[in-house]
Amino acid sequence: MFGFKGKKQPTIDSNETLDLQRIPKHVAIIMDGNGRWAQQRHLPRIAGHKEGMNTVKKITMVANDLGIQVLTLYAFSTENWKRPDQEVNYLMGLPVTFFDTFVPELIANNIQVQVIGYTDQLPAKTQKAVNNAIEQTKNNTGMVLNFALNYGSRAEIVSAVQAISQEVVTNNLTIEAIDETLISEHLMTKQLNELADPDVIIRTSGEQRISNFLLWQIAYSEFVFIDEHWPAVDATIFKHALFLYQKRDRRFGGLNK
Ligand code: FPP
Repeated sequence: MFGFKGKKQPTIDSNETLDLQRIPKHVAIIMDGNGRWAQQRHLPRIAGHKEGMNTVKKITMVANDLGIQVLTLYAFSTENWKRPDQEVNYLMGLPVTFFDTFVPELIANNIQVQVIGYTDQLPAKTQKAVNNAIEQTKNNTGMVLNFALNYGSRAEIVSAVQAISQEVVTNNLTIEAIDETLISEHLMTKQLNELADPDVIIRTSGEQRISNFLLWQIAYSEFVFIDEHWPAVDATIFKHALFLYQKRDRRFGGLNK
């Protein structure tokens, strides 16, 4: 049921129960393993991205039902342009397909779309789809579905340093006024206000690295790594990852001891 033939099976105890009082407010996901999922099925890599998009729909709904307030998904990094043109083109078309088919459901569920990343460098059709989705959902007050698109954390920090330096030069900002709050306010996650920093970052597909994702914002986040490839993630596996987060939190947090 979980994973693919020959792959290590996750141990999910059917007694795992999520503590609904302690659902993380901001969950960030590195959606890895689309290519491997496809290759294991002798399909082209883009079939993995297509199925990965369907997983985005499923997990968005599960996250919303659980009361998660922000779901940040790493959909395309500033480094992903290095992939073959055909794959990049396919990935650039995915937001168009996704929002074309899914915005009514997002609206019906009061979900607001936001984006972090250098969206002005995306193809015009992708920018249009993203901007329309942001516009169409801007009055929704429920979960924020936050896509990282052409996002890279080092580039984000460079942009912040440049903007702050400019303020020092032109607006008489003093060096002493540069503190953690000011830096956070110059990052792309500023629009998430007090929810800018994820409580937990989940990476699928067994790799245990951060890949230039939210480097400033994850200073105090819990990291959960799961073996399943992103297209294979379902509600049970996603809840299992949240369960691991809650267990970890219980072990290391101060309040429940
Ligand atoms: C990493 O897997 C995945 C990506 C680079 C793309 C992620 C995109 C989606 C899941 C779809 C996004 C949907 C929308 C709506 C924008 P990989 O290709 O690196 O997998 P591999 O490591 O097995 O090769």
